[in-house]
Amino acid sequence: MKKIIVLGGTGFVGAHVCEKLVRQGWHVTVPTRRRSNAQSVQHLPGLTVRELDVHDAAALQDAVAGHDALVNLVAILHGTQAEFERVHVALSHTIAHACAVAGVAQVVQISALGADALQPQTLPSMYLRSKSEGEAVLMQAAVGAGATDRKGFDLSILRPSVIFGEQDKFLNVFAKLQKLLPVLPLAGAGARFQPVWVEDVANAVVRCLEGACDQPSPRIIEAVGPEVFTLKQLVQLSGQLAGIAGGFGRTVIGLPMWAGRLQATLMGLAPGEPVMSHDNLDSMKVDNVASGKHPGLASLGITPSALQPIAQDYLSRA
Ligand SMILES: NC(=O)c1ccc[n+]([C@@H]2O[C@H](COP(=O)([O-])OP(=O)(O)OC[C@H]3O[C@@H](n4cnc5c(N)ncnc54)[C@H](OP(=O)(O)O)[C@@H]3O)[C@@H](O)[C@H]2O)c1
Repeated sequence: MKKIIVLGGTGFVGAHVCEKLVRQGWHVTVPTRRRSNAQSVQHLPGLTVRELDVHDAAALQDAVAGHDALVNLVAILHGTQAEFERVHVALSHTIAHACAVAGVAQVVQISALGADALQPQTLPSMYLRSKSEGEAVLMQAAVGAGATDRKGFDLSILRPSVIFGEQDKFLNVFAKLQKLLPVLPLAGAGARFQPVWVEDVANAVVRCLEGACDQPSPRIIEAVGPEVFTLKQLVQLSGQLAGIAGGFGRTVIGLPMWAGRLQATLMGLAPGEPVMSHDNLDSMKVDNVASGKHPGLASLGITPSALQPIAQDYLSRA
């Protein structure tokens, strides 16, 4: 039986990943900052929740010992430069060190489409730059670079576009906003995405752990769905599929960048996570669609699912 430690296993994607891993009959450990955050997974058979600060190198090293593989889904979408560096770059160093010392044989890193480990500084947002730097750290460690006393590990990096599914914070949020507002002012309306279903991403993690991909390690896989949409199309679709305004959805008005930035500043003043931050707007300066430079989900034997039938099912019930 494989033993897998899943960092970020309590989140939206993590809960689907953990469910698939326990279904394989594997034992799963999920570290969390607070046990109460683990409600989505703590009932799963063969899964152990551990309250732990994953940024504490000694604690993480202790936690990964005895595991065959580590999956990392820890990430933030909003924050300062220092927060992005801590969560996406420094944590990658901590993971790389812990896995090398403990002899963890496999690592699956969930990154993001648009990341580029070879040239992080050319990317438009703190999110993409830090995700790319995190990839680079793990890629170096995977091949054992810079360490004579430690072995590397098998590394799979998944780069998903925006992920949809019943608990997503994307289509659900835009549908909810249309319940509240008569029209929807939208920044970045022309940005293009290739949404991928959360179940396809979770299956991809399992397939990587099974060694299903014939690409050599470290391998990068672009996890995208079969269709490309603009942000405006996705927002309109979310309203329509949720049955808002008689199934027509609200009118979506594309904002020029200056107005989008003003909107982001105002959202930043409100408590809680903003729907759209300055850094999110920066990320959308480049399209979030497959580059074709790396294999897709087909390389893992997965045929990606179309968005509409799945999103209709959960948005119409929400
Ligand atoms: N959702 C998407 O559309 C999307 C698109 C592209 C890529 N991705 C990537 O997919 C992965 C999973 O995304 P997700 O949507 O499932 O994220 P999520 O729901 O926000 O979950 C992230 C998890 O990371 C942990 N976490 C958050 N901040 C942390 C911090 N400062 N220190 C330690 N742990 C922290 C949390 O665990 P605890 O609260 O239990 O500690 C949380 O469960 C991420 O790498 C993300 O970048 C997601």
